[in-house]
Amino acid sequence: MTGPTLWCVIPAAGRGVRAGGDLPKQYQLLAGRSMIEHTLERLAVHPRIGGLLVTLAADDRYWPGLRSVRGKPVLSAIGGAQRSASVLAGLEALPATVGDEDFVLVHDAARPCVRLDDIGRLIERAASGDGGLLGAPLRDTLKQADAGGCVERTEPRESRWRAFTPQMFRRGALTAALREADRQGVAISDEAMAMELAGFSPLLVEGAEDNIKVTTAADFALAEFLLARTSS
Ligand code: CTP
Ligand code: MG
Repeated sequence: MTGPTLWCVIPAAGRGVRAGGDLPKQYQLLAGRSMIEHTLERLAVHPRIGGLLVTLAADDRYWPGLRSVRGKPVLSAIGGAQRSASVLAGLEALPATVGDEDFVLVHDAARPCVRLDDIGRLIERAASGDGGLLGAPLRDTLKQADAGGCVERTEPRESRWRAFTPQMFRRGALTAALREADRQGVAISDEAMAMELAGFSPLLVEGAEDNIKVTTAADFALAEFLLARTSS
């Protein structure tokens, strides 16, 4: 696959409260290696990814200080209290060689099972417009719950997607969109949401459902299983 290489920002400044454990989830071991090392490896293997920028908690004691993975440079910066602040800090810390019009990827440290061919398809398809994201159409029936935990109604499933990462946007546009959302006090859950608020329509690129975000303690065993089976 040819084309310019892209930088990827990896937010890794979270505490992993829902996962529990003695250390933040991105440092817990999966098949003998920390989750974040698996994630960085998956990204670095892709020929279109040229550099990795990790954002870390200010008091992070576990980051192994990697300077390169598979020959690709690894930089680090301090993240923020919300994921969106961590992504913005990463965008601001990218090298000056990354222009405002250049595309950058953002990928959660907590998604170590991302597939190489999904990264490639996102880069190919989203670069022809203003960017996009990996996701998958909803498969299950969707229920709106009431305060008592009973079904209030059934929501239509058609045209509804789950949003994954990586997400890919132009450095300048995404930085501006995240800053503006912050200025307005809007809580932003992914990059696409910031871009939507700025008037863009990010392209949804269907990816494998096994690109899970390791969130609870039960997800670690699933991630280990998937890592052994999803190398491409
Ligand atoms: N993240 C971040 N900065 C934050 C919060 C989250 O960089 N202030 C990162 C996490 O490290 C993770 C990704 O964003 O790689 C996705 O967030 P999530 O899965 O919610 O991780 P945590 O916030 O660590 O987990 P929890 O919400 O359970 O505490
Ligand atoms: Mg979180």
